[in-house]
Amino acid sequence: MKGKDGEIFRICLPWQLLQLAVTAILAVLLVFFWKLSAVSGPSLDFQTHLAALEANGLLVRVDRPINKDTELHPLVRWQFLGGIPEDERRAFLFTNVVDSQGRHYDIPVAVGALAASAKIYALGIGRAVDEIGAAWTHAIANPIPPVVIGSPCCQEVIISGDDLRCPNGGLARLPIPISTPGFDSAPYLTATLCITCDPETGVRNMGTYRGALKKSDRLGVRMSARIGGAGGYLHWQKYRARSEPMPCAIVIGCAPAVIFTGPQKLAINQDEMGVAGALAGRPIRTAKCVTLDLEVPADAEIVIEGVIDTDLLEPEGPFGESNGYVALEDYNMSMQVTAITHRRSPVFVSIISQVTPSESSMIKKVAYEPMFLAHLREHLSIKGIGRVVLHEPLSNVRPLIFLQFANDAPRTEVWRGLQGAAALRADCGKIVIAVSEDIDPSNTDAVLWSLAYRSNPQNDVHIEPYRSIGHAPKSGAQTLDSTMLIDATLKYPMPPLALPKREFMEAALEIWKQLDLPALRVQQPWHGYSLGDWSEAWDAFACNAVAGEWQKNGLNTFPRRRGGLTPETPVRKVEGQPK
Ligand SMILES: Cc1cc2nc3c(=O)[nH]c(=O)nc-3n(C[C@H](O)[C@H](O)[C@H](O)COP(=O)(O)O)c2cc1C
Repeated sequence: MKGKDGEIFRICLPWQLLQLAVTAILAVLLVFFWKLSAVSGPSLDFQTHLAALEANGLLVRVDRPINKDTELHPLVRWQFLGGIPEDERRAFLFTNVVDSQGRHYDIPVAVGALAASAKIYALGIGRAVDEIGAAWTHAIANPIPPVVIGSPCCQEVIISGDDLRCPNGGLARLPIPISTPGFDSAPYLTATLCITCDPETGVRNMGTYRGALKKSDRLGVRMSARIGGAGGYLHWQKYRARSEPMPCAIVIGCAPAVIFTGPQKLAINQDEMGVAGALAGRPIRTAKCVTLDLEVPADAEIVIEGVIDTDLLEPEGPFGESNGYVALEDYNMSMQVTAITHRRSPVFVSIISQVTPSESSMIKKVAYEPMFLAHLREHLSIKGIGRVVLHEPLSNVRPLIFLQFANDAPRTEVWRGLQGAAALRADCGKIVIAVSEDIDPSNTDAVLWSLAYRSNPQNDVHIEPYRSIGHAPKSGAQTLDSTMLIDATLKYPMPPLALPKREFMEAALEIWKQLDLPALRVQQPWHGYSLGDWSEAWDAFACNAVAGEWQKNGLNTFPRRRGGLTPETPVRKVEGQPK
């Protein structure tokens, strides 16, 4: 028996060990893939995205009480005003939100979680920053239709009827912050995805439009009526022609890939939910609204359902806008809320906008730049176009566009590019500047430097009349604007850039590091390079100099002395071009 038991024991031990080992390996793999999915795959709902931000050290939790009416946005504003480099910006999650009436909200508020930086935006779609452009181009060309499901988590709680109107009920239950305390007339919804449907074609539009708190069951909504403005406004016009109110669902918080289609400018007849699916890499789960014939992302945090009056408009504003000025009172849309649905424990999302840089400008910049580049490169086939940069600080991303061209781009192509960039959108490209490939278009100082030495305003600046004022402040009498196109590219060979050659700067950088001096933030240009107007003879002088043999150069120039010349006469005017 003993022997037998011992036999069994001997057989069992390796078998149990094997089981243990397999379980351990599986557990390690599970944790590995969970971690991997937290950083690489696109998050399919907003709270998974918050977890991914936290796992990547990109989230600041604020657990002390914060007043949403006076403190919340100003605190996050410091991140954009305080000289913190863009890639060090964080998302903020406020878990203890109060208001000026002393009320405490049980719903946390996230700000900066969508696009405080390009890194945060990229994490939202599970890509690297330099893949954002290609991801958009691919998604627009290859949409994936959504799938409709039942019992969505965005409807775990449904508030309707009298519950929308009771004291502190309805919209007043939501911790909606004031963006520009001291100027804004109300708490505003900013991170919205306003879903409407074309009553004729049934095509859905999703746009990010602000919403002002008016009553616990009423919002003021601003859908821009300017040319190239809001897609939702075009739907509103069609409902108005039918004398019908317009159904509208306002989604707050969902998968970043879905939210990002809100501020993106897509073709009006393209279903943006399909583009969102392609950005996310799989169909978006949608669900029917409880009071409207519209579908919303099933995994959303909060959905506000309602109908927009197409007869009466209501004064809306003032509100601090992304052009950096306060929008004064305008007549805008009035939305009667029919239901609010949300997850059992939702998170409220807000976008920080107003003076740029901001989250609002970043969310547009990363999406618009690839759109402009694709337009110039693929649709207009502009030869030599390299990069498109929409200038962001203070100006916002619309009025100023910088184009970078290859040095051999024909001038006619530079001008076609300037015109193409100015024409793509009615509200973008008031001033378009072309620079050459050695100028970093994301460095405004470098663009101005190019303007200073590589353009002659009389020949290289064109002003064209008749541009709409776009998204500009409306004060003053001006109703029409114009367009300025500037060719600041290199048009003839120029002397080298006056910095030490690359090899000397690189060697010095090694010494810098060995000396443990402060970390550097290097930007172009950081070394000298030839711009065409240079010769072997001058190169030989420079080689002699760095070899400590400068006297050879003096021996060379002594016999070349001349009389009867004015100082600063170029030598090559007298001797001819050196070899
Ligand atoms: C934070 C934020 C707020 C915005 N607010 C508005 C707004 O109130 N009204 C508007 O028409 N556009 C607003 N925009 C710009 C639109 O979202 C953008 O023009 C987008 O292309 C609209 O989508 P659509 O083309 O489907 O209408 C806002 C953008 C952001 C990022």
